[in-house]
Amino acid sequence: MQALCWHGKGDIRCDTVPDPRIEDARDIVIKVTSCAICGSDLHLMDGQIPTMESGDIMGHETMGEVIEVGSGHTKFKKGDRVVVPFTISCGECRQCKMGNFSVCERTNPNAKMAAEMYGYTTAGLFGFSHLTGGFPGGQAQYLRVPYADVGPIKVPENLTDEQVLFLSDIFPTAYQAADHCEIKPTDTIVIFGCGPVGLLTIKCCLLLGAKRVISIDDVPERMELARQAGAEVLDHSKGEIQKQILEATQGLGPDAVIEAVGMEAHGSGVMNVLKSAFTSSERPSALDEAILACRPCGILSVPGVYGAAIPVMMGAIMQKGLTVKTGQTHVQRYLEPLLKMVANGKIDPGFIITHRIGLKEGPDMYKTFRDKKDGCVKVVIHPN
Ligand SMILES: NC(=O)c1ccc[n+]([C@@H]2O[C@H](COP(=O)([O-])OP(=O)(O)OC[C@H]3O[C@@H](n4cnc5c(N)ncnc54)[C@H](O)[C@@H]3O)[C@@H](O)[C@H]2O)c1
Ligand SMILES: [Zn+2]
Ligand SMILES: [Zn+2]
Repeated sequence: MQALCWHGKGDIRCDTVPDPRIEDARDIVIKVTSCAICGSDLHLMDGQIPTMESGDIMGHETMGEVIEVGSGHTKFKKGDRVVVPFTISCGECRQCKMGNFSVCERTNPNAKMAAEMYGYTTAGLFGFSHLTGGFPGGQAQYLRVPYADVGPIKVPENLTDEQVLFLSDIFPTAYQAADHCEIKPTDTIVIFGCGPVGLLTIKCCLLLGAKRVISIDDVPERMELARQAGAEVLDHSKGEIQKQILEATQGLGPDAVIEAVGMEAHGSGVMNVLKSAFTSSERPSALDEAILACRPCGILSVPGVYGAAIPVMMGAIMQKGLTVKTGQTHVQRYLEPLLKMVANGKIDPGFIITHRIGLKEGPDMYKTFRDKKDGCVKVVIHPN
């Protein structure tokens, strides 16, 4: 089959690789009808996440049709249409039972490596380095889905791929980011980043009843989509972002701040200057700005992805008494309620899609998405 594979920093190729097969009784194999490129894939492309190996198949936002079913599998049958969460979870361990699916204790075959880095293992993830298991990803014609009785959700025929694809990752991620803010009807929420995650987060904050949402970016078409989604928008390129936020909030600051940027942040945050003294290649300037922006005793929610140890403004967090909530998304926790919201027309997450391509155009489109060229906000790939 054809798949998009990582071959080093900035080097994604469309390769011919062996078809996946059932390896465990709980597996299914799907024929991928739609998959997407995520901001997290840019961190991998950019060499920011350790333990990628040449030839690794990319992709963790995937859906398709079930074509093979493991001998012990009873949830799906051939022909079912399913969306696959990027988190691989067993459903049986202590963490899964608590609903903490992205830190499943059992699905990462490289648990020891993860525990050495983070103290404990985290869950296996599709297409996301060997630190999270080295599972082949879903930017491919076919995908083997392990623990398929726990992760994937069957979707009704009357909903299009574009309406439901983002249940695999960024819609639940946006919802969790908003959920972490414990939104009250009087709340003002500031969101750093108007990428796909930031844009969906605006909708989720409003759905959860926020009074005001103020979004920040400097890419015009993304800022325009943020306005259309219901946010007031501040232009990062105008500088002095903290001043802009204070002016917009009568000096009070937001009740919660969401950092939906992650490691590819641009700008020259305090920590970017300090960073030169550290070995990390990460660039937490949006994180600095988010920490500064949050009002005392507010909540900082960080869906933005970080991998290695980085310098963090702990003084500001401690002195202001901030509550920090973060994590890879516990996708399975949100699947049913969010599918219902799509089905009854409360939200159509597809509004962010700007590009639709085949696998062969994938390598070029990775660069277009990374460089924010051609008005690119979200890319959907049809591999078959
Ligand atoms: N926690 C999770 O489970 C999870 C899931 C999906 C994505 N993510 C992460 O969410 C983040 C965003 O993903 P995305 O797909 O929207 O990525 P993206 O790269 O398309 O969007 C990031 C946006 O942030 C903007 N930006 C950069 N620096 C900024 C700054 N200093 N202030 C304000 N805006 C700034 C960029 O212009 C861009 O529009 C990434 O780190 C991604 O890895 C996390
Ligand atoms: Zn993702
Ligand atoms: Zn588990």
